[in-house]
Amino acid sequence: MALQQKGMHGAWVSRWTFIMAATGSAVGLGNMWKFPYVAGSNGGGAFVLMYLICILLIGVPVMMAEVMIGRHGRKSPINSVRDTVAESGADKRWGSLGWLGVVAGMLILSFYAVIAGWALGYIFEVASGNLIGANGASAGTVFENLLADPSRLVLWQTIFMLLCVGVVVGGVKKGLGVAVEILMPLLFLMMLVLLGFSVLKGNFAAAWAFLFDFDFAALNWRAVLEAMGQAFFTLSIGMGAIMAYGAYMPEKANIGKTILVVAFFDSAVAIISGLIIFSFVFATQGIEPSAGPGLMFISLPVAFGAMPGGVLIGSIFFVLVSIAAWSSAISLLEPCVAWLIETKNLDRVRANLMLAGFAWLLGLGSVFSFNIWSEYRLLGFTFFDFLDFLTANIMLPISGLMIALFVGYAMNKKLVEEQLEGTSQTVSSLWLFTVRNIAPVAIAAVFVMGIYDKFLS
Ligand code: PHE
Repeated sequence: MALQQKGMHGAWVSRWTFIMAATGSAVGLGNMWKFPYVAGSNGGGAFVLMYLICILLIGVPVMMAEVMIGRHGRKSPINSVRDTVAESGADKRWGSLGWLGVVAGMLILSFYAVIAGWALGYIFEVASGNLIGANGASAGTVFENLLADPSRLVLWQTIFMLLCVGVVVGGVKKGLGVAVEILMPLLFLMMLVLLGFSVLKGNFAAAWAFLFDFDFAALNWRAVLEAMGQAFFTLSIGMGAIMAYGAYMPEKANIGKTILVVAFFDSAVAIISGLIIFSFVFATQGIEPSAGPGLMFISLPVAFGAMPGGVLIGSIFFVLVSIAAWSSAISLLEPCVAWLIETKNLDRVRANLMLAGFAWLLGLGSVFSFNIWSEYRLLGFTFFDFLDFLTANIMLPISGLMIALFVGYAMNKKLVEEQLEGTSQTVSSLWLFTVRNIAPVAIAAVFVMGIYDKFLS
């Protein structure tokens, strides 16, 4: 595929690499760790339906809009937004859009590395054979012991951060591109193997019913807001990651089709993870669907502990989860790194170390919120819960709303049309209608009702 226009950071070699990179960014802890537990805490079925509607009606159109800005600007999100705003003759204040996303990305990276650290730690926890024959209670104790130990958490968080820096220093082609192309297909394959096992050994029927029987009585606005936040988080939108990757996308690739493929992979991994995890949750005594952030780390080890070859399969599984988290985290780091390189003239290594260092430091707050600071509350949240809520349910929706409005109304029509070249007329009109009318109204309504429900009712 010809690359007629390239930014200073390089470009993906093909549309397929972009798909793998964007999928690598999208598929991560959000799918395997977060989706099952927020669905579990919100009663299952109806939440899942809301989530899927949000992906389709809000996520996909906003994601396309983000890629358009990125591919047009060919720079870091902050500068791509600024240039596009200037070329469109739009109000300068739209520029804040780039900033909001990048700040949200740094906040997310800080706690993301902590959770990814759990996954790293679990590779060894499972490999040691400690969890052979574990039941719900003993697996729960292993998890609680990990959380109670700040030094182990910091160790894994640090190792994870260094892994991210390692790839991002390698740059777009050598670092990110190569890593994702091999690892993503492998992860998908592994998920299918586990799905097979959950059908054979877990309570698959109960998991299916839990995720797909819609009980609307369990649904409230707070849950819908969480479903929308999860849709943003899982697609990596609203924080510059997809915009930054879009900047490296080949000129001629069809945006509509490409993004639909990414959204499909992403939702598929989330649903499959949910089916696997709940199959084992419902087959095990002592684990509730609403167990919270520990859900994956407690239910799956029980399953691995009971399966032949479980030590090996389980260790490989956590290796793959760590890799998925890794390919997501690098996309949180990249936008800011690209910006520092462009504007502050820093080299890639130094920009990386500075940002990773900052996120690492902030991440200590999340580490401690699981042990020595577990009593402290901010607006009723622990530090980790606070950052999670602030980013996914407040910053990302606001950023998504602004992206939809900007591209729908303020961005120069010609620039938008240029980006839609190659995308079919039907898809283009549908997209434009959604991004102008449906997405903004839906985001605003869910946001207002959800915040009201959460804090004021
Ligand atoms: N989408 C990633 C996940 O689901 C998280 C992420 C968010 C990555 C934002 C990059 C940017 O795990």
